[in-house]
Amino acid sequence: MLRRFFRRPEPEPSPNAPDDRVRPAILVREGEVADLRTHTPANLAAFQRWYADREIAELLRHDLEPLNAVQSRGYFETFILPLSNRGVCYAIHDHETGELVGTTAITDITTTKDGSISGLFRIVIGEKDLWGRGLGTDATKLVLQEAFDDHDLDEVRLEVFRHNPRAIAAYRRVGFRVTGEHVEWISRRRVELHVLEMTISADEFWERYPDTEPDWDDDSDDVDGETAEAEDTYGPETADTADENTRDDDLTAEGDVPAVEAENDSLPEQAHVPPKD
Ligand SMILES: CC(C)(COP(=O)(O)OP(=O)(O)OC[C@H]1O[C@@H](n2cnc3c(N)ncnc32)[C@H](O)[C@@H]1OP(=O)(O)O)[C@@H](O)C(=O)NCCC(=O)NCCS
Repeated sequence: MLRRFFRRPEPEPSPNAPDDRVRPAILVREGEVADLRTHTPANLAAFQRWYADREIAELLRHDLEPLNAVQSRGYFETFILPLSNRGVCYAIHDHETGELVGTTAITDITTTKDGSISGLFRIVIGEKDLWGRGLGTDATKLVLQEAFDDHDLDEVRLEVFRHNPRAIAAYRRVGFRVTGEHVEWISRRRVELHVLEMTISADEFWERYPDTEPDWDDDSDDVDGETAEAEDTYGPETADTADENTRDDDLTAEGDVPAVEAENDSLPEQAHVPPKD
């Protein structure tokens, strides 16, 4: 009894700590080669291994640099898990084996000048020995179904480096077309980065995959408020995105991780700038 009086109070959980109450991985969409599931805290170690890989970084990240352990933990806990819980970020699993193989997301959801709602697609198949087996293509198709069916987006856009022919081939196969190109100067490396901009509209996607088009007359999905839930996914508009009317405030900055942070493993996790990839 007396001991209870002297017991130390429980420490407050860190806001960035993985939430153990997060439900176990739930199947979001099943494909032929890949499945989309919710992320769980247990995925952290694999995520950190993928983002520490130099080859992946050079195909993925706009600063071309891998993330150190502190950066990738911060990214996972601050963005990946919350976005997964909000239904816009997914773990990719091998359909046949169930193995966790990558991560994918739709971020930066904005309303364009013509009123279309557009989201930015991101993907990594982190298990490199599984590249070229159709996982990326299938996962991309599943995310587009999520985007156009569940989240009512009008278009999905992406950026891909010209030196990434595997990704470009996968995106073309699903129906993305090149809509622009720009060059970024990577001062740390003193190199130019040639970036292709690709887009697919909902109409283009359903035309390509008519079998996957939802039955729009069937409004049974709306019965228990699922439509309202999808709207809530995006959160409030933020002041800094007013001119593009951004509906998702996560990962919009896409700022490069400052060089000093990239070299300093001891920075507090709170100091993270959302990594650009
Ligand atoms: C890009 C990525 C998601 C593609 O996933 P994947 O499972 O490897 O791709 P898939 O097997 O589904 O498709 C690969 C396509 O590229 C083609 N391909 C494979 N190697 C290639 C190469 N060296 N050059 C050109 N095309 C190539 C394949 O033939 C296939 O195209 P096809 O279906 O028209 O035949 C994955 O490789 C990856 O995560 N890479 C590292 C991170 C990255 O680049 N992310 C994307 C950033 S925009």
